[in-house]
Amino acid sequence: MSGLGGGRLRIGDVTVGGRVLTAPMTGVTDLPFRRAASRLGAAYVSTEMVACADFACGRPDVVRRAAVGDGLPLMVVQLLGADPATVAQGVRLATTAGADLIDLNMGCPSKEVVGAACGAALMRTPELAERIVAAAVEATDRPVTVKMRLGWDTHTACDLALRAERAGAAALTVHGRTRNQFYTGRADWSAVAAVKAAVRLPVIVNGDILDAADATEALRLSGADAVMLGRGVYGRPWAAAGIDAALAGAPWAEPDAEPRLGIVLDHMADALAFYAEPHGLRLFRKHLGWYVERAPWPAAAEVRRTAKARLCRLDSASEVERALVALWASEAVTEAAKGPALALGSAPSYNAPVSAGGAA
Ligand SMILES: Cc1cc2nc3c(=O)[nH]c(=O)nc-3n(C[C@H](O)[C@H](O)[C@H](O)COP(=O)(O)O)c2cc1C
Repeated sequence: MSGLGGGRLRIGDVTVGGRVLTAPMTGVTDLPFRRAASRLGAAYVSTEMVACADFACGRPDVVRRAAVGDGLPLMVVQLLGADPATVAQGVRLATTAGADLIDLNMGCPSKEVVGAACGAALMRTPELAERIVAAAVEATDRPVTVKMRLGWDTHTACDLALRAERAGAAALTVHGRTRNQFYTGRADWSAVAAVKAAVRLPVIVNGDILDAADATEALRLSGADAVMLGRGVYGRPWAAAGIDAALAGAPWAEPDAEPRLGIVLDHMADALAFYAEPHGLRLFRKHLGWYVERAPWPAAAEVRRTAKARLCRLDSASEVERALVALWASEAVTEAAKGPALALGSAPSYNAPVSAGGAA
C-alpha cells in the first residue's frame, strides 16, 4: 500500500491526517508534549520508545511512556525489544492500551540499547529483525511499522525493508544516517530513495528536516510518501502541523510571541498535572529552554541564555509562570512581536541525545 497523497498517508487501515509526522523522542514526546502538538494540529506524534520487557513487568515509568491521551488524533506507541516473544507481549499490551499504530524501533544507536541487541543492532541481525516484525504483526490487528536507519555502517536498509515488508509491516521510516554516524554529518535523503524503490510500502523519510523547504527537498530526493520531524519540534510543537499546511499550499507562519506564551503555559500546566511537582517541573525545564531559545525575539543568544538559566533555577511552577509572563512582557519581546519572527532554525540547540539509555 502506498501513500494517499493529497496531504494524507495511509498506513494499513489507518489514515494519518497529514504527511508530516512527529518522531518518537525519548525525554521529549511524552504525553504532555503529544497533547500540545496535537492541540496545534499535529496528525501523528509517537510516544517515546517503550522497552517491551520493562513494559511487560509494569515498570511504572515505562508504562507511563505508553500512556494514551485524550484528544490525540492517533495513538502511536513505539516499542523496543530484541526477543520476538517479548516484543509480541509488548504489542499485545500496547494494543490493549488503545494503540492505533505500533512502531518497532530498529534505529536507536545508543550503546546501552545496541548492547542489549535492540534498536539499530537489529540492522546487523536482519533474520532476527524479520522474526520480530512477524511476531509483532501476529500479536495485533493494528498496523505495525518499523523505524530504521540506513544501516549499521554501510547501507543495508533495503534488505531490512524487504524483510519487514515480507513479515507484514505496514510502513517504514528511514532516518538517513547509519548507526555509526549517530547524529553526525547530514541525513542523506537521496539514500532513502533506494528503500522507497525496493518496497511497495509507504516510506517516511527522516533526519534534519526543519521547515517546509527541507520537507519538500527530502520528499523530492527520497521519493518518500511523508516526512518525520525529530529535533525540529524542540520548542515548536506546532511545527509538524505548520509544515503540513505549507506542503498543502496553505499560508502558514510561525506563531507570534503572544500565542507562544499561551502554548508554553498550557504545555507546562499539562506536564505538572501529568507528573506532579517537583518532578514535572524538572522534566519541563528542557522544554522551557527550547521555548526560550526559539522565541521570536530580537534578543541575542546571550540574553536568551541568561533568561533560560534564570527560569530553570526557579523551584516552583507558580514562580516559573510569573517569570515567563514577565519575560514575555519585557521590551525585547513586545518589540519583536511587531517585527518578523525568528527565522527557522536560527537559534536551535540541536543536541543529540546525551544519555545512552535515554534516546535513540
Ligand atoms: C532526544 C532524542 C530522543 C530520541 N528518542 C528516540 C526514540 O525513543 N525512538 C526512536 O526511534 N528514535 C528516537 N530518536 C531519533 C529521532 O526519532 C530521529 O530519528 C532523529 O532525531 C533524526 O531526526 P531529526 O534530525 O529530525 O532529529 C531520538 C532523537 C533525539 C534527538
